[in-house]
Amino acid sequence: MNKTSESIIMTQDLCRDFKQTRVVDKLNLNIQPGELFGLVGPDGAGKTTTLRLLAGLLNLSKGSATIAGLDLGAKAEAIKPHVGYMAQQFSMYGELSVLENLQFFAELFSVDHTILAERMQRLLAFAGLTEFTDRRAAYLSGGMQKKLALACTLIHQPEILLLDEPTTGVDPVSRREFWNILTDLHLQGATIIVSTPYMDEADRCSQVGLMYAGKMIITGTPNQIRSNIEGQMVEVQPENWKAALALLSTLKGVQEIQTYGESLHLLVDSGRKRLPEIERALKKEKIAFRGLRLAPARMEEAFISLIRKLEA
Ligand SMILES: Nc1ncnc2c1ncn2[C@@H]1O[C@H](COP(=O)(O)OP(=O)(O)OP(=O)(O)O)[C@@H](O)[C@H]1O
Ligand SMILES: [Mg+2]
Repeated sequence: MNKTSESIIMTQDLCRDFKQTRVVDKLNLNIQPGELFGLVGPDGAGKTTTLRLLAGLLNLSKGSATIAGLDLGAKAEAIKPHVGYMAQQFSMYGELSVLENLQFFAELFSVDHTILAERMQRLLAFAGLTEFTDRRAAYLSGGMQKKLALACTLIHQPEILLLDEPTTGVDPVSRREFWNILTDLHLQGATIIVSTPYMDEADRCSQVGLMYAGKMIITGTPNQIRSNIEGQMVEVQPENWKAALALLSTLKGVQEIQTYGESLHLLVDSGRKRLPEIERALKKEKIAFRGLRLAPARMEEAFISLIRKLEA
């Protein structure tokens, strides 16, 4: 099967410069319809710029892209009805009510009046905002504002959603609700690119891409990305974690240690080899511990190890 002919978003060496600086650097994306693609990367990596380029809101500097079969360079305006873009910053009208914001975006995208009332009701219910239709957007909670922004993004029923950190700063419960909505949209067949600083969210995506300094460093399923980590993870819960941390960081083969509550997570070159050595070292120094075991690598560890390699 020819993969590229099916892509709903395809970029070839897509670049964007701001003055002398290349902020998006030769991006090659190939996204299939129905994909839920998580875009992660450190601050300033170029995630927002990428999403704005794909939404047709920024001109590209070099390269090319096809969105929903349309050439981005030549047909940016024609692409807009196919795309719903949700900005990283609050972009609703604070003085307008929930309903008025929806109406405003419906107007902007020339949504047919005869179907508008029904669609707004459906989206309000979907976003859990039915009871808040008259509240001014400025007075909604942060989580509700994000859901309203998503509802506005969906008002013209775009097949492609570009969501820029839609859950940043939102409490865990609202974050989960937001992701339930995204999962529903994914199941309905929408193609979604969502940027996120949260690794648990990256884990919920069908594909993940790591951006770093304008470049896409790696793309793959969460499992593929996790398996990319060089070395293995060892977990241990020492009684005196400060002493354990000092001791274990001097051991051969231990590349990095992270603390998670009472646990230490060690990235080691070989689990089979280092596990007994870690056990011996702790016992020798009389540092009591429990739960010493090989642990699966987390997404966060996989990304940090990739970034460390790039910065080395
Ligand atoms: N309009 C602009 N003019 C000049 N430089 C810009 C402009 N917009 C973005 N940049 C620069 O481009 C780089 C990438 O920014 P971008 O906002 O795309 O990163 P990001 O990955 O979304 O970061 P964050 O995680 O902080 O949202 C940054 O160095 C930023 O300062
Ligand atoms: Mg950003």
